[in-house]
Amino acid sequence: MRNYLVTGGAGFIGSNFIHYMFRKHEDIRIINVDSLTYAGNLGNLEAVKDRDDYTFIKADIRDKEAIEKIFSENDIDVVVHFAAESHVDRSIVNPEVFVETNVLGTAVLLNAAKAAWENEDGSFKEGKKFLHVSTDEVYGSLSDPSDYFYETTPYDPHSPYSASKASADLLVKAYIDTYHFPANMTNCSNNYGPYQFPEKLIPLMINNALSGKKLPVYGDGKNVRDWLYVDDHCKGIDMVIDKGVMGEKYNIGGHNERENIQIVKTIIKTLQEILPDDDPRKKGISEDLITYVEDRKGHDRRYAIAPDKISRELGWLPDTKFEDGIKLTIKWYLEHKDWMDNITSGDYQEYYKRMYKV
Ligand code: NAD
Ligand code: DAU
Repeated sequence: MRNYLVTGGAGFIGSNFIHYMFRKHEDIRIINVDSLTYAGNLGNLEAVKDRDDYTFIKADIRDKEAIEKIFSENDIDVVVHFAAESHVDRSIVNPEVFVETNVLGTAVLLNAAKAAWENEDGSFKEGKKFLHVSTDEVYGSLSDPSDYFYETTPYDPHSPYSASKASADLLVKAYIDTYHFPANMTNCSNNYGPYQFPEKLIPLMINNALSGKKLPVYGDGKNVRDWLYVDDHCKGIDMVIDKGVMGEKYNIGGHNERENIQIVKTIIKTLQEILPDDDPRKKGISEDLITYVEDRKGHDRRYAIAPDKISRELGWLPDTKFEDGIKLTIKWYLEHKDWMDNITSGDYQEYYKRMYKV
């Protein structure tokens, strides 16, 4: 039995990871620590909440005492650290909380894990690992169309979000270099799939289209992101936990580069195909909904991951093609209207008005 401490497990990727791990493994126990910010939703975990091998603890990763208590009361083998403030637009408006959670919160977790796992001689107990989940945004923006992000690409973050993630990555690296702390880091491209909060491009566009609302495309719509179905990210993390060479970092991405405008048009087309003719929402869904709006400040032009290392060394390859993944995702949102309605009531409306000035 291996004990996993998952931070941020009530968010998008964290909750998908918990479902993925229970599908793939029988001999694990998961403790999910999440402070339930606006992005945390226990509704994502309905299907696992009553399992004997699953525990939820509401705690903030910045709360040293609470985190140390979890380590003292549980023999944690693996930390999978997702908890973060994750939305670039919010980081532009309010950077401080990104530093507090993403940098200081990571420091609290590293210290607590180090204290719990370190032997008297400075070595670490067998079988322990800290998996820090990071992003391709730390590498900055690519201008040469034939260029890719490798693990060796120098860090060049531009937004407060990516700067805070880069800082956290460097802290993890410092623990590896200084203490030989047993850790790995993964830097993944843009994820999409079920349970993603509708502040992010894909669920926002699906939700707006279904509500007959404008589809706000930033700038010229030609910024490029490299999209990966969330289960393929989870698979990569699981493989790095099991087979990753201690101290190494691994890029994860499936060579799925698309301009934002292509994504929006694909969503429109797929909704038109999937929705039955008698669905009253279908008539209003067309490219006429697309509106070009003011660009994001400091908007990175292109991200593209080279996943060569994880593929070559660990045998990771994505299972889901974008064409299939986007259909699965749209169908999921259509079948989980209550989930979306629940999330978009209340505070979300205020956020949307403030952010999109409508
Ligand atoms: P998310 O915003 O959907 O979820 C974040 C979760 O962390 C939420 O459940 C929230 O309640 C929790 N959280 C936030 N602050 C906390 C705190 N102080 N203490 C405890 N819990 C806290 O984010 P996501 O999209 O699922 O991203 C998860 C991780 O993966 C992040 O570290 C992000 O940087 C990284 N990542 C995301 C993507 C992507 O495309 N979404 C890609 C690569 C890497
Ligand atoms: O690359 C990995 C990163 O992907 C993660 O580290 C972040 O946590 C995650 O939020 C995501 O960041 P992006 O900024 O790339 O994702 P977002 O969905 O916010 O935007 C994707 C692209 O779409 C980006 O170029 C901005 C654009 N966009 C976004 C929104 C919300 C629009 O044109 N209109 C919108 O309304």
